[in-house]
Amino acid sequence: MSRGVFISFEGGEGCGKSTQSLLLKAALEKEGHRVLLTREPGGTWLGEQVRKLIKDQSDDVPCARAETLLFLAARAQLVEKVIAPALDEGVWVITDRFIDSTIAYQGYGRGLDIAQLHRANEFACSSLKPDVTLLLDVEPKEAVSRRISREQKQHSSADRIEREGELFHSRLREGFAALAAEEPERFRVIDANGAVEEVQEKIWTSLKHLV
Ligand SMILES: Nc1ncnc2c1ncn2[C@@H]1O[C@H](COP(=O)(O)OP(=O)(O)OP(=O)(O)O)[C@@H](O)[C@H]1O
Ligand SMILES: [Mg+2]
Repeated sequence: MSRGVFISFEGGEGCGKSTQSLLLKAALEKEGHRVLLTREPGGTWLGEQVRKLIKDQSDDVPCARAETLLFLAARAQLVEKVIAPALDEGVWVITDRFIDSTIAYQGYGRGLDIAQLHRANEFACSSLKPDVTLLLDVEPKEAVSRRISREQKQHSSADRIEREGELFHSRLREGFAALAAEEPERFRVIDANGAVEEVQEKIWTSLKHLV
């Protein structure tokens, strides 16, 4: 039995990761693959607890290093308990965010040392990396309008990280672009400004050789 393929979705808020990861799961299943979809932070009991902590509205906010370690704890658990065993069994794994979000958010966004964050990621994941990373790139204005429409649809409000200003979000985008340029063999940069179906088609085209 061959090992499963490991795919991560990355990009800023509102770029369509959750929408497209669900669509990709369905498309791969149609091709006969077994697929596991997971999200960060989350996907395990520990990860869901971390998600609650990250989204907590308390004024006593975690400092940047504590925030990083929370995400990494969730990731370590997810890799060891869920992702690695699934890949070994031949299951394809799709994750909504992974290592690159740490570099973009805590490195480029919050200013922590990027080389240290790469090593911390390696430690958390026992060096496991996605086979393919789909970076959904949208214009900042489009991302904001999608986020607002989602908040209206779901009657939810932006969390602490989502409320960061425009400068933070433009640093994130720059960070993701730099990561993609450093590892062109792993990254597929997808122009995600178009309609859901258009973006879905671009993703499928970029993965066809694997399916
Ligand atoms: N191509 C698209 N065109 C227009 N709206 C879209 C498109 N893709 C997703 N949306 C809508 O934009 C909102 C954000 O999409 P989604 O939740 O998939 O993004 P996300 O990348 O998962 O965001 P987050 O990082 O905040 O989880 C949702 O309301 C979704 O329905
Ligand atoms: Mg999402």
